[in-house]
Amino acid sequence: MPSMITNAFLFILVFIGASLYGPIKRSGIFRGITKINVEGSKTIPLVQCEDLHVHNGLVYTACQHSDRAQDRTKWFPPMGIFDVIDFHTHGIGLYPDAENLFIFAVNHLPNPDHIKDPQSPAARSQIEIFKVSLPVDGSLPTTATHVKSVLHPAIRTPNDILPTGPSSFYVTNDHFYRDGFMRVLEDVSGPNYGRWSDSVHVDASGTKTVAHQVVSGLHNNNGIMRGMDNEVIIMSAAGGTMYRLKDDPVSKNLTLIKDVPLDSSTY
Ligand SMILES: *[C@@H]1O[C@H](CO)[C@@H](O)[C@H](O)[C@H]1NC(C)=O
Repeated sequence: MPSMITNAFLFILVFIGASLYGPIKRSGIFRGITKINVEGSKTIPLVQCEDLHVHNGLVYTACQHSDRAQDRTKWFPPMGIFDVIDFHTHGIGLYPDAENLFIFAVNHLPNPDHIKDPQSPAARSQIEIFKVSLPVDGSLPTTATHVKSVLHPAIRTPNDILPTGPSSFYVTNDHFYRDGFMRVLEDVSGPNYGRWSDSVHVDASGTKTVAHQVVSGLHNNNGIMRGMDNEVIIMSAAGGTMYRLKDDPVSKNLTLIKDVPLDSSTY
């Protein structure tokens, strides 16, 4: 029955083609780079910047140090790269109160247990909280003081932070799988499948850090921010989807309102 075999073969080809179309389009391989609204602006050389936020007309951004020889091509757990160990920032979040600006930064540190036990994860990422005292005379702040490092098993593969207070925050875990084939499958199977990652809320105000999962069943939780009507927005990076969520102010749990599909990867 050759025709049935041909049909089955064609069906498989179409299925593979259809499955790859979304990931390839979202990857942007065939999209050109266009400059938008940059007339009269100045270029500042920065290295591998992940995130930026604006407060009082100042841009706070998380970049790699330009003097460092080791960049993301050697150590960057969020991309499954574990060759050389180094300090690496990722998403940041800002929380202003009357006198201070708190900066929350993901820090992808190596896992000390990994040296003894190669089966344990290579990275043990944590969140750093810094405090910037805003000068009363309105002059530019120049230093940030480290307040604390926040470590919790629920903070697994942190990507971005949305602060909810001077020592509490939402953090997205961008992957369920840290590396290997399943991680690739997790990336390309979105946005409809591979909805395996979660986001957590962390309260580090007390002596013991408390964290709980606030939403699961989303794909590749990446950037997190406030949206219109005080909604919480989470982006599925590889899935090209914007999730609109509602937060419960008491429990901090997030409820999904809507998936908004986009045609490019979104951070
Ligand atoms: C919030 O979510 C947690 C699961 O992470 C659940 O145990 C808890 O009951 C939820 N709280 C509310 C008020 O919905």
